[in-house]
Amino acid sequence: MNILVTGGAGYIGSVVTERCLNAGHSTVVIDNLIKGHEWMVDKRAVFHNLDIKNTADVRRVLSENSIDAVIHMAAYSLVGESMQDPAAYYHNNVVAGLSLLDAMRESGVKKIIFSSTAAVYGEPEKQPIEETDTLRPTNTYGDTKLAFEHMLKWFDRAYGLRYAGLRYFNAAGASRKCGELHDPETHLIPIVLDAARGTRPYVEIYGDDYKTDDGTCVRDYIHVEDLAAAHLLALDGLETESRIYNLGTGGGYPVKEVIDTAARVCGREIPVRTVGRRAGDPAVLIASSDKIKHDLGWSPEKEDLDTIITSAWDWGNRYLDKANALGSAK
Ligand code: UFG
Repeated sequence: MNILVTGGAGYIGSVVTERCLNAGHSTVVIDNLIKGHEWMVDKRAVFHNLDIKNTADVRRVLSENSIDAVIHMAAYSLVGESMQDPAAYYHNNVVAGLSLLDAMRESGVKKIIFSSTAAVYGEPEKQPIEETDTLRPTNTYGDTKLAFEHMLKWFDRAYGLRYAGLRYFNAAGASRKCGELHDPETHLIPIVLDAARGTRPYVEIYGDDYKTDDGTCVRDYIHVEDLAAAHLLALDGLETESRIYNLGTGGGYPVKEVIDTAARVCGREIPVRTVGRRAGDPAVLIASSDKIKHDLGWSPEKEDLDTIITSAWDWGNRYLDKANALGSAK
């Protein structure tokens, strides 16, 4: 298949790109490099430094490469930032996303895999969360992703666009070459590993008074390679109908356990300070992934937290110096 990956220079996008190429698909990446890193794009892919809002340019890339399907991962994805600057999130995740759908429609591309998020559920009513549970995002980021899911539903009905919306829980870990490198970094595992490396003085635990076993928030961490594998399966599944799937492991770890595991895996002390809760953090977010397991036969192969953290630690040891040397530690 000829696949276009938008946001293929980002953390998850670069791993998905690797996976597509390893599966034998011709892969084209577009990324505006605002958040992404060109060096993380697999050299076997064709790369275009391009923003999805440029409908005509995207249409040309789709046509010239006879693209069969798009994996759409280009988006802003920080909850806190989305609350401070909602306009940027609606422009990038909704308006620019619509421009991509227009380009696809104009060039006759009728298949799309979309990176959605657990944030579409807001404060969940029960655990584990199922796809049919109430969708009530509590932040702009989640709302922009839900808006795009809605567009997909109506585009399917009106134009025959086949889609899979994949609602990611907490993506974590790294492949050999591609890992998590944001600026600013807000995600727990890379922050914990920075503290283990000594490039950050301590980890702040955002609240230890939640109604969980140890008082800290519980999250469902899914290895980025397991996440990537699901995209390939979802592409095959598009032959029959559009779908929405949760992507998590069905299990969860509290913040303190993540820190303790990292300290053990890295053999380092990790200083911590407990501070107040972060606004908008639900106590527990655990996915039911029964639907994708049942429909597509997906199952996580690297769900163990040691494996996830070890992969992120090893990747950082191999690549963080290179990233800093390139001036792209973002
Ligand atoms: N945390 C800390 N200290 C930190 C960073 C995080 O204690 O320095 C805690 C958070 O409070 C949370 C957990 O670690 O309980 C995980 O936080 P992350 O920021 O790593 O991830 P989130 O669960 O906030 O975010 C994820 C995805 C988002 C998605 C969201 C849905 O990364 O894209 O889940 O709620 F929107």
